[in-house]
Amino acid sequence: MKPLHLILFLALSLPVQAQLRVTDTYVENKKSPAAIVSPHPRFTWILDSDTRGAGQTAYQIRVFNTTSALKKGQDVVWDSGKVSSEQSVQVPYDGPAVTSATTYFWQVRTWDQRSRPSKWSAPSHWQTGLIHPEEEFVARWIVPGIEEDTVNRPSPYFRKEFTLSSNAAVRKATAYITAHGMYEAEINGSRVGDAYLTPGWTSYNKRIQYQVYDLTDQLQRENAVGIILGNGWYRDYLAWGDSRDHYGSDIALLFQLNIEFEDGSTQQIVSDGSWLSNTGPILNSEIYDGELYDTRRELDGWSSPGFKSSGWLAAKERDFTKKTLIATENEPVRKHETFRVVKVIETPEGDLEADFGQNLVGWVQLNYSGSAGQKIELRHAEILDKEGNFYTDNLRAAEQLVTYILDGGPKRVLEPHFTFQGFRYVKVTGLRKEEIADALTAVTLYSDMEPTGTLTTSNELLNQLQHNIQWGQKGNFLDVPTDCPQRDERLGWTGDAQAFFPTAAYNMNVNNFFAKWLKDVAADQLENGAVPFVIPNVLGPDAAASAGWADVATIIPWESYVLYGDRRLLENQYPSMKAWVEYIRSKSNNFLWNSGFHFGDWLFYSPDNDTDGRAAVTDKYLIAQCFFAHSTQLLINAATALGKEEEVKEYSQLLEKVREAFRNEYLTPNGRLVSGTQTAYVLALQFDMLPAALRKQAADRLVENIRRYDNHLTTGFLGTPYLNHVLSDNGYDDVAYQLLLQQSYPSWLYPVTRGATTIWERWDGIKPDGDLETPSMNSYNHYAYGAIGDWMYQNIAGIRAVDSHPGYKEFLIQVVPGGDLTEARGSLKTYYGQIESSWRVADGSYRQEVRVPVNTMALVTLPFGSVNTIRESGSPLAQIKGISILSRGEGSVQLRVPSGRYEFEVPLSAE
Ligand code: BGC
Repeated sequence: MKPLHLILFLALSLPVQAQLRVTDTYVENKKSPAAIVSPHPRFTWILDSDTRGAGQTAYQIRVFNTTSALKKGQDVVWDSGKVSSEQSVQVPYDGPAVTSATTYFWQVRTWDQRSRPSKWSAPSHWQTGLIHPEEEFVARWIVPGIEEDTVNRPSPYFRKEFTLSSNAAVRKATAYITAHGMYEAEINGSRVGDAYLTPGWTSYNKRIQYQVYDLTDQLQRENAVGIILGNGWYRDYLAWGDSRDHYGSDIALLFQLNIEFEDGSTQQIVSDGSWLSNTGPILNSEIYDGELYDTRRELDGWSSPGFKSSGWLAAKERDFTKKTLIATENEPVRKHETFRVVKVIETPEGDLEADFGQNLVGWVQLNYSGSAGQKIELRHAEILDKEGNFYTDNLRAAEQLVTYILDGGPKRVLEPHFTFQGFRYVKVTGLRKEEIADALTAVTLYSDMEPTGTLTTSNELLNQLQHNIQWGQKGNFLDVPTDCPQRDERLGWTGDAQAFFPTAAYNMNVNNFFAKWLKDVAADQLENGAVPFVIPNVLGPDAAASAGWADVATIIPWESYVLYGDRRLLENQYPSMKAWVEYIRSKSNNFLWNSGFHFGDWLFYSPDNDTDGRAAVTDKYLIAQCFFAHSTQLLINAATALGKEEEVKEYSQLLEKVREAFRNEYLTPNGRLVSGTQTAYVLALQFDMLPAALRKQAADRLVENIRRYDNHLTTGFLGTPYLNHVLSDNGYDDVAYQLLLQQSYPSWLYPVTRGATTIWERWDGIKPDGDLETPSMNSYNHYAYGAIGDWMYQNIAGIRAVDSHPGYKEFLIQVVPGGDLTEARGSLKTYYGQIESSWRVADGSYRQEVRVPVNTMALVTLPFGSVNTIRESGSPLAQIKGISILSRGEGSVQLRVPSGRYEFEVPLSAE
């Protein structure tokens, strides 16, 4: 063959190098999920490529009923055809109506800018839930057959034996389970699934989730199902005082197993009056108080066939509604990290305590063999007191006591079932000191959200702060976002959730977690639009409508749209957003919202000598007016995004009036606010309450206030999340860094210097002399002040979303080096893939590495150098293909950077 022919031959015979690769696929933001009931589930795919500037110009999705059809490319259920579009995130299914309890297999391919197709993605699937649960749940709600001990409320056990109705192989067996209370299921002696605290917490009287489990591989000819129930959020003590049974006093089970055989026949096993019930080893289990477990009362083999059920009584059927049943939407609570005992402490008071080294949420496993009747008590606490003794005063009425009574049998792992504890220290009675370390292991429990963000810096204290923020999230994202996980509270406080949301969305994918919770926000919103303090609302209808708390109804939907591009969530929540703004309007007088109860800038820091003219106390109605404007602005943003032009107009007019009312009431002509506090200036600046001409002096007054407190913040829950943003936005990055790195309290690093492993509720939870803040309000695991996290990701790592291109389709990389930092490394996994940004000042130069995911665009602002001095991968900027220079200012060169990896270098000595 002549050389030219050879080249031609090779060129024709080699497959065209596909430029894009599909690496990950999601349906409704999850990998291969079950229980999807949306008629138009949304597909997301992540692309990769070895070429810079790669992006998608078209896609094609195919959906099939079986994997073999998919492999052959035949019998397609839906073929989108080739769609010219860059969209690779949350593309809705638009085929024929999906049917209940069906698995759909799908794949996608994409085309790049040169019209070259990628390979089809690896097959992936989703399974539909019961789309019409009211009809499709033929199971009956059942309650125990025995008279209940209403004081201790031991956990009921239910069981049912059955024989498969066909000899053919089982093609598919799917269980649908929920409860009034919590449940744990077993089949043929093994646990069903790996989710805990199911069915999770929703506004049960309106929405109650069921879970879906694939039991295909767990069935045998003769079977037994066993289910244990716990009181759970349904009827446990919740909130303070003696209130329980928030949703009802009946503990109840709903179970349905749909079996399909290879011969085409089907069988259903459903909860009904033929099930048997009893009580067993769980003598008492309460979310706050812990669990009492007597192994001597274990029912060996109770969830296996052939168990002798003498003494068990028939369950009773009940007609509880099935109208409220919904499929599970967010990730289940699962087990995560485990911790061994770091040291065993003998306290001055003579107690034995295990220290796990981390304040965490979950429970302790006991792996031990003792003598019959031996009682082991585990009491949980977050800290030791000044003297080093066990300290639980801050738990208020929550006992956090787990007790095991042993049967003398062989060593095995025991753990609680329907409770969880917030702790670092465990006081142990019933074990000898030398037995403790081996016998105990702590296990964390939290909603199984995908970790998405990382941030490390050259400053170890900041790294610990980042760790503490992430652990605040792990400990408090247990199906609902709670304020704290340990005292008699653990409620879905709305103010805390909105303050922390942007940070949470960096750390983990919280898209579905909040999509689910926001539906409860809407469900529990009162007729008049008021949003309760806590969601699910267990505090009653009067506990609602506090500024900065209720605004969760507008803040999180809008932020979810910006950070995840979740337009459907925004559409779903829009009526709730609007109802909230209308509520405020209805309560305002001449557009001034100056009525009702408000928490204000909760837990702001006010030193004793505040009487010298310094100020930390912010007028509550001034705050309310700022949030009135903010919520109205977010409603306008949402209306704009959703194309509701009339409403954009209407609410823009309202917003003008709200701002005007603010200025008339709270602002002097020279720009002084009636409250001269940090929070007042922060909110006024952040929510654009001031005329442009008065912004500069307001920022100066804010800084002046900070200086008067010797470079300390004094803000509470509402001012803190915006404080550093406002400083940065107004030219005071240096002050923002001073606050961030401040080590004496009030500050973010003070608790770190005191050995904190989570975020504290109060700036001074433990004083420098070891004294503790007032125990009635002093949690050591309260994420609200962790809201500084998003400023850190945005400025130290430089990763920022932009409203105009939601979901990081386009984003900013804008590192602001400051303080004593010499390097930092950050990353964020978006629905387009991983954004990375790291930088380092060393050897006279500033180096910054950036990774821009395929199908996105970054606007990179370099903090040093000019167009002429900046090099990328060794070459002058001007020579780099694909990068456009947007602005050339010294120290603020802005570049438009398409996908790929980049290494910028700026010689600092040449400056
Ligand atoms: C909670 C808070 C909550 C607050 C309302 C407290 O008891 O722990 O975090 O936001 O009440 O002010």
